Amino acid sequence: MPDSSHDAVEVITAKRDGHELSDSQIDWVISAYTRGDVADEQMSALAMAILLNGMDRREIARWTAAMIASGERMDFSGLSRPTADKHSTGGVGDKITLPLAPLVAACGVAVPQLSGRGLGHTGGTLDKLESIPGWRAALSNEEMLAQLDSVGAVICAAGDGLAPADKKLYALRDVTGTVEAIPLIASSIMSKKIAEGTGALVLDVKVGTGAFMKDVDSARELAETMVALGQDAGVHTVALLTDMSTPLGRTAGNALEVQESVDVLAGGGPADVVELTLALAREMLAGAGRDDIDPADRLADGSAMDAWKQMVRAQDGDPDADLPVARESHVVTASSSGVLTRLDAMAVGMAAWRLGAGRARKEDPVQAGAGVVWHARPGDEVTAGEPLFTLLTDEPARFDRALASLDGGYDIAPAGSSYTPHPLVIDRVG
Ligand code: URA
Repeated sequence: MPDSSHDAVEVITAKRDGHELSDSQIDWVISAYTRGDVADEQMSALAMAILLNGMDRREIARWTAAMIASGERMDFSGLSRPTADKHSTGGVGDKITLPLAPLVAACGVAVPQLSGRGLGHTGGTLDKLESIPGWRAALSNEEMLAQLDSVGAVICAAGDGLAPADKKLYALRDVTGTVEAIPLIASSIMSKKIAEGTGALVLDVKVGTGAFMKDVDSARELAETMVALGQDAGVHTVALLTDMSTPLGRTAGNALEVQESVDVLAGGGPADVVELTLALAREMLAGAGRDDIDPADRLADGSAMDAWKQMVRAQDGDPDADLPVARESHVVTASSSGVLTRLDAMAVGMAAWRLGAGRARKEDPVQAGAGVVWHARPGDEVTAGEPLFTLLTDEPARFDRALASLDGGYDIAPAGSSYTPHPLVIDRVG
């Protein structure tokens, strides 16, 4: 029998008029929406009222608990090692999960990473890994547990059973201009992470032009909201606020970012990717009670690379196979000599997306080899006529729109100009 303890219009008008929703209104609306008894247009109106009027800490905690209760919860308590996971709010060139998961596993902490595919200008972890020949994203719960026991790290697709209310609501927010509400972002991310069953969680909250949160104050508010939700649910949770005004590393694109991650695991790779990987690994280890281990040692001694190869092989991928390469390339050269003082993350992310590395609709395919390589980072000297970017795609018709995104996305100051680097890790909440 349908639960008629509340109705959708009553809940919408309460939030529209600036009132707090009661626990029972929240439980009812999430459950009724998941069942299909609250229509999409009603949930859209409620999401917009929440975006405009906010929710307090109790409401956000209850909303998150109701979304967790809409599906299954995973349980890793039977594993012989502690668990820790990381979530990034999304950035350009953000391939950190790829070296981080095997690195933390090599330190004796299990990493259950349930990931998604990319939408818009930030790439998805699964899309990146799917550029490895043979690699498979879909695992059953039993396969995931077995791999966590044997290898210690799993990166796979979140099954449909985990927080189904969020799956439906996130898709709706995407098309109704209601993604940016902090209570809705925080509850969306944390419902999935708490349902996933990790013991410790480190949040990488990105700040800057290429991130959801464009300024430090709103990123801090999101971080504090998520950390409180995690701690209230018994998950050891901390957040780092990290810069996303400049893209991470030297590449944005699926196979390109896998290669850069392998370079890091081999002891090389761009300094910022290594720095952030180690900073997040230290937080994950501390959260799991293993701060006696220095992850830099496990990068240097090759054990993180061994864990990567085992992790890829366990999901039918060939870690030694050549990665796909785009058929066409186009080089952008520096128009003047001097110092690169700005490289805009959003401009680079849009260019990679337009080259085919990302998708516009969730059913679109992505190109494994497409993307952007930048040959200089802010602070580097550049020489007129030398390559600044290499654009890669299988479809040359895409070059024009990608070039248009890069236009105005970087600045070259005269030689000798001073450049003050931004710190990569801006703050820590927790
Ligand atoms: N990622 C999520 O999973 N949910 C949001 O609302 C935003 C980013």
